[in-house]
Amino acid sequence: MSKTKKPRTRFICQQCAQESQKWFGRCPSCQAWGTLVEESAPAVTPGAGGGAAFGAIGASRPQRMIDVKGADVPRAPIGISELDRVLGGGLVPGSLILVGGDPGIGKSTLLLQAADHIARQGQPVLYVTGEESARQTRMRFDRVNATAEALWLMAETALERIEAEVETLNPAVLIIDSIQTLFTQGIESAPGSVSQLRAVTARLMALAKGREIATFLVGHVTKDGAIAGPRVLEHMVDTVLYFEGQRGHAFRVLRAVKNRFGSTDEIGAFEMQGSGLAEVTNPSALFLAERAHNTSGSVVAGSFEGTRPLLVEVQALVSPSVYGTPRRTTIGVDSNRVALLLAVLEKKAGLDIAGSDVFLNVAGGLRLDEPAVDLAVVAALASSHIDRPVDARTVVFGEVGLGGEIRAVVGAQARVAEARQLGFERVVLPANDRAQLTETEGVQLIGVRHVGEALDALF
Ligand code: TYD
Ligand code: MG
Repeated sequence: MSKTKKPRTRFICQQCAQESQKWFGRCPSCQAWGTLVEESAPAVTPGAGGGAAFGAIGASRPQRMIDVKGADVPRAPIGISELDRVLGGGLVPGSLILVGGDPGIGKSTLLLQAADHIARQGQPVLYVTGEESARQTRMRFDRVNATAEALWLMAETALERIEAEVETLNPAVLIIDSIQTLFTQGIESAPGSVSQLRAVTARLMALAKGREIATFLVGHVTKDGAIAGPRVLEHMVDTVLYFEGQRGHAFRVLRAVKNRFGSTDEIGAFEMQGSGLAEVTNPSALFLAERAHNTSGSVVAGSFEGTRPLLVEVQALVSPSVYGTPRRTTIGVDSNRVALLLAVLEKKAGLDIAGSDVFLNVAGGLRLDEPAVDLAVVAALASSHIDRPVDARTVVFGEVGLGGEIRAVVGAQARVAEARQLGFERVVLPANDRAQLTETEGVQLIGVRHVGEALDALF
């Protein structure tokens, strides 16, 4: 009965993994241009693919929910607390963690240091590099002073060889740097293609779950900052971390965008130094270190990242527009939000600002997403517009509504405490938050209800 089948090919969008029989210049699904690539279909064996991975997890019968173990997953702290925090308190055995970030940001360095910390606890760690030679990696080990005996290195890109070595070494932690360089012989497409990424990740998942090996996958990012390859990759793994920072700045932020074993609100702060990444335990101080005092347009916002309050400098430059359409450039804050706040300033605080060029920036390359930074943005815009500095010892926070009203935010007390700890003397905050707080020694609390009132208090 056996017939030799013609090898079938199909076209797969490298961005969204949509398959089609025909080639299109533009992906019919995600509308991206030029992303369809011809890949040969894998030899299909019934039950292969997803089945293999789930089989390894343990195809199980239903159990009563209350009998299922799991409320507290065991975690092994790595010993780098900024990393442990982002992971949700430590490394969960058998979990798959994808680490994305721009080239040169420090992904390999971070994972090497993590590997060294784990290996020092006596647990074998296998670091697989497909990007550099063993010698190059060794030089980096020396640089970050990674000398643990239980740390193993392998320069390899063939998945089958890696699997074989994992069988013999049986490491507690496996690090793959990077997932885009790996390939499996079963599939003809090039390393990094959707078919390869999917197959390789599924196999690594089976390995991780089957042998309870915590596995880190380094993922490259595309021009627009997403992890190269389809979202599929992000769906398959347990945790997705992004390592971010600005070029030319030593400051790095590790952020969880997905975490099956913890919150996605936490960030870890690091600084790239000559001997690897150093933890930054007081990010506020670092963010404010380069602040220029008594310049207009600069305001310290009392923000929050995860469970930690964070003080950041918001900078604005407002100048009369020479063109018909004013320019608007914002970095670190949503531009729609800024447009809204400009409209509020114009309409509710009587500032003639709508026709001006506006540039807004969050110092240190941080991104602020919470509405509590509204008032700081408003203060920075107004300060630059009227060219009067906000007192340098003042911290500002509060959400601004369309009516110009200042709304209460969460964590007011922690924000005030952070301001106090860093030596600030005055906090301008929502009146409702102010009412809940008792006057703290050394810090004057000014509750405001409206943008106009806030500007009066600040200038
Ligand atoms: P790397 O970890 O290779 O980045 P990625 O894996 O994300 O591509 O980091 C490389 C950069 O970090 C490189 O520009 C050199 C710098 N670096 C230091 O400044 N100090 C160090 O100790 C190390 C190891 C790297
Ligand atoms: Mg690297």
